[in-house]
Formats: sequence, structure tokens, C-alpha cells
Amino acid sequence: MTVKPVFNAATPVTQAPAPDAFLDDVVQGFSRAQKTLPAKYFYDAAGSDLFEAITRLPEYYPTRTEMRILDARGAEIAAALPRGGALVEFGSGSTAKVRRLLPHLPDLAAYVPVDVSGEFLQAQAAGLRRDFPALRVEPVAADFTQPFSLPAGLGDAPRAGFFPGSTIGNFEPEEASRLLRQFGAILGEDAVLVVGVDLVKAHAVLEAAYDDAAGVTGAFNRNVLTRINRELAGGFDPDAFAHRAVFNSQASRIEMHLVSRVAQTVPVAGRRFDFAAGESIHTENSYKYTVEGFRALAAEAGWTGTAVWTDPEALFSVHALKRVG
Ligand code: AVJ
Repeated sequence: MTVKPVFNAATPVTQAPAPDAFLDDVVQGFSRAQKTLPAKYFYDAAGSDLFEAITRLPEYYPTRTEMRILDARGAEIAAALPRGGALVEFGSGSTAKVRRLLPHLPDLAAYVPVDVSGEFLQAQAAGLRRDFPALRVEPVAADFTQPFSLPAGLGDAPRAGFFPGSTIGNFEPEEASRLLRQFGAILGEDAVLVVGVDLVKAHAVLEAAYDDAAGVTGAFNRNVLTRINRELAGGFDPDAFAHRAVFNSQASRIEMHLVSRVAQTVPVAGRRFDFAAGESIHTENSYKYTVEGFRALAAEAGWTGTAVWTDPEALFSVHALKRVG
């Protein structure tokens, strides 16, 4: 009898989290005085579709503004990257953003998309290989918040990182700093990192972006409860929770909450959790930075800001950082 190898050439390097991590995070989060859920659990298939819908909303400016910056300044951004380098994208998703840079990077040694969703990643890699036949695409299925290793065989190509989308804003500043330091450790000496960062602005503009008139962000927020119902045998009525988005100016962050409309007890995986009327689950933080504020955070993590690009209205920023330590 022949034993099939677990990995073959078509299998991406998989460094995915343990399957019960979701339950642990829910139980832990619901056991605090202020109940919380990690924002990363928004992104199941339905949540990813809802986020795509958010990016097309008139109120949600970050995605289209960052795209415009990449389109308008792509050549300059590409010029900030080392020639013949390997470009690692942390959380590559639909690869729509890197596609704006690739035409300006004809001599890239390899593109390494890193994403938790292995199947989606393979589909994206196939699409890129089709559209950029000369490009070497080396996907890694991993949670980029955990240390992971780059594919063997990148050789001594200089490393560059790409972290668009203001995903960095989902992390507490201390965690964001740790993450940037970890990216530095993964990429190695002399690395360059391009990061998209949403900027501080008028509170009304920020709050509308996270509480749209069509209610899509509310559906996105509630979807995490639907996911708990499905994956963890939960008993949530998502409509029994109101969507709330507020700018906390002290902390410089948008906070999203799900506010229990009534007093209720909800089962999850055989446990029971109580929610008082008006009690909230804090589901997301989206930190907003000034250019100087983000550079200071990056400096703590061993990176120095070498260039920054913004749109004419100063809604969004794209930073080029160089590793110093
Ligand atoms: C994907 C983290 C950049 O914070 O703007 C959008 C997520 N949440 N609307 C953001 C999100 C609600 C988004 N990021």
C-alpha cells in the first residue's frame, strides 16, 4: 500500500490556527466586563462579501481612496521597493491592490501572498499567474498575526512587505507595533514595508463610514453572531442587537459595538451568556493615525518612514518604511 504524502506541489504551505481558537476567543471575550469579539472573525464567506459591499458604499472612503493613491502614485511607490525583490503581502485577500503595483514592478523576483483562507488564496494565485505570466507567485496560507516562515527558495532576493487596507488600524497600538516588528523579523535586514493607514479626520465623516445609510455595515457587524450560531452552535437572534459605531477621540479610534436591545440569555456551545438591555459587545476598533503618529509607532517597531503618499483631501495615507533595527 502506498501512503499519499500530506503535501504535494499544489498544496500551499499551511500554517493555520487551531480549529477551536474561535470558541476560545468567544468564551474569553464574553467573560469580560466589557464583552468583546476579535474583529478577525467578521471574515467568513458572508462577511467577506459584506465587506466587499462596504468598500463600494458612498460613505466608506478608505478603499477607493487607497486605490486612487496606488493608481496615481504606483510608479513612485514601486520605486521605493528594492529592484529584483520578493514582495510579501500580509493578508492578500482579493489581490486588487497589489495588481495596481505589479505593472510597475517588472523585475520582481517573487510575489508572496499570505492569507488565512487557503482555498481563496489558491484561486487568487491562479488568477495572478494568468494575468502576470512572468511573475513567480508563492502563496503562504497563514495567519499573519502569528510568526510564519517564508517559502524556501526565495534565495537572497531583497525582501519587501505590503500591508494595505489600513488593516493595521484593527490592532491596539501596542499590538500594531508588535506586528510591525514581527514583519521586520520575517522580512529581515534592509527590508522595505509599504503600509496603508487611514487618517484622522472630521468625526462625522468617520462615523458615517462605519454607520452607512443602507445598513450594510450593520449587517457586517451582526454577521459575526450568525457565524457563532453556525460554527459554535450559538443561539443568537442577530436582530436583537443594534449596530453602533462611534469615534472615541481619546483613543483615536472608531469603535463598533453590537448593543443588546433587550435583556437576554444566549447559548453558545453548551454555555450560556447573559446580556443586559443596552449592554454591548465591542466588536471592532479601527484606529486612525496622523502621518506623524503612524511614523512614531513605526519607529518604536524598528522602522523609519522614508516616504508617504496621500490623496488631495488627506483622507488616507500610504507609507514607505525602511527597517532600521
Ligand atoms: C478592513 C479593518 C480596514 O477598519 O475600516 C469596515 C473593516 N469595519 N467597516 C476598517 C471595517 C467596518 C476595515 N478594515
